[in-house]
Amino acid sequence: MFRLDEDIAIVTGATGKLGPVWVEALLEAGARVAAWDLAGVQPSPGFNALEQRADRGRMIRIDCDVTSRAGIEAALRQVTTAWGTPTVLVNNAGIDQPPDSGKGRFTAEDLPIEMMRRMVEVNIIGALQMIQTVGGAMLAAGHGSIINVGSLYASVANDQRFYDHFPGDPPFIKVPSYGASKAGVVSLTKYFATLWGTRGIRVNTLSPGGVLGGQDDQFKKKFCSRVPLGRMAVSEDLKGPLVFLASSASSYVTGAELRVDGGFTAW
Ligand SMILES: NC(=O)c1ccc[n+]([C@@H]2O[C@H](COP(=O)([O-])OP(=O)(O)OC[C@H]3O[C@@H](n4cnc5c(N)ncnc54)[C@H](O)[C@@H]3O)[C@@H](O)[C@H]2O)c1
Repeated sequence: MFRLDEDIAIVTGATGKLGPVWVEALLEAGARVAAWDLAGVQPSPGFNALEQRADRGRMIRIDCDVTSRAGIEAALRQVTTAWGTPTVLVNNAGIDQPPDSGKGRFTAEDLPIEMMRRMVEVNIIGALQMIQTVGGAMLAAGHGSIINVGSLYASVANDQRFYDHFPGDPPFIKVPSYGASKAGVVSLTKYFATLWGTRGIRVNTLSPGGVLGGQDDQFKKKFCSRVPLGRMAVSEDLKGPLVFLASSASSYVTGAELRVDGGFTAW
């Protein structure tokens, strides 16, 4: 029941850090996977390595900006022409503002509103347009599983103390729009799960906790002290939950938020 041999999957934001983890999990479960991302972005080393070893007949890379409805429709046509109607959609494309983004330092009172607006545009409107378009095609076919990638920060506020060892004035703070946008993704999930439940479409949120990768030692120490499992997530922690939500193993699960956060939000 965890196999996806008959499935055709789309993963957005596929060439970043977590994208290749989802793509590989779906490939390993037997699906064919279309990896969508912005044209011209530099793929992560993880994506390049996966592309090297993947079976070319079962993985295709397609350019798509999820904030463009016309772009999504064109990318969807490429998938349907190559393989048929998608049955699994992973809405993974998202933007955050990591400490090393070079976007400048601001107090909460002076955060540039354009930065906030862009997060909402990609994280919420992008996911919504993907659901409208790809979900619409699934509706016509009568079945599909949509997984929206949320975050632990959909449920809890950022602990700004994780960053208080960073030099600079004003001090680095995580922005409010990231968690707000991810809470919006959880809400979108419930909306479409209830609207389309009787029409064969399941919609769930998978909310990862902090994923290990390049963080400094002080951050890791502070972060891990708040995780009941005592560590950050690694790729292998995320694959099983995704395959569960994509496959018939979760046939009676819809509208749920599966938090894969080592227990962070339980404390
Ligand atoms: N890495 C983590 O620790 C973590 C934790 C919780 C949730 N998440 C969520 O997981 C998802 C993936 O995160 P990541 O760490 O891989 O980030 P990432 O920045 O490495 O990858 C995000 C990808 O989305 C793409 N993207 C951005 N705007 C786009 C657009 N308009 N259209 C299409 N693609 C676009 C980027 O090009 C990039 O490849 C995001 O939704 C993020 O919020 C990540």
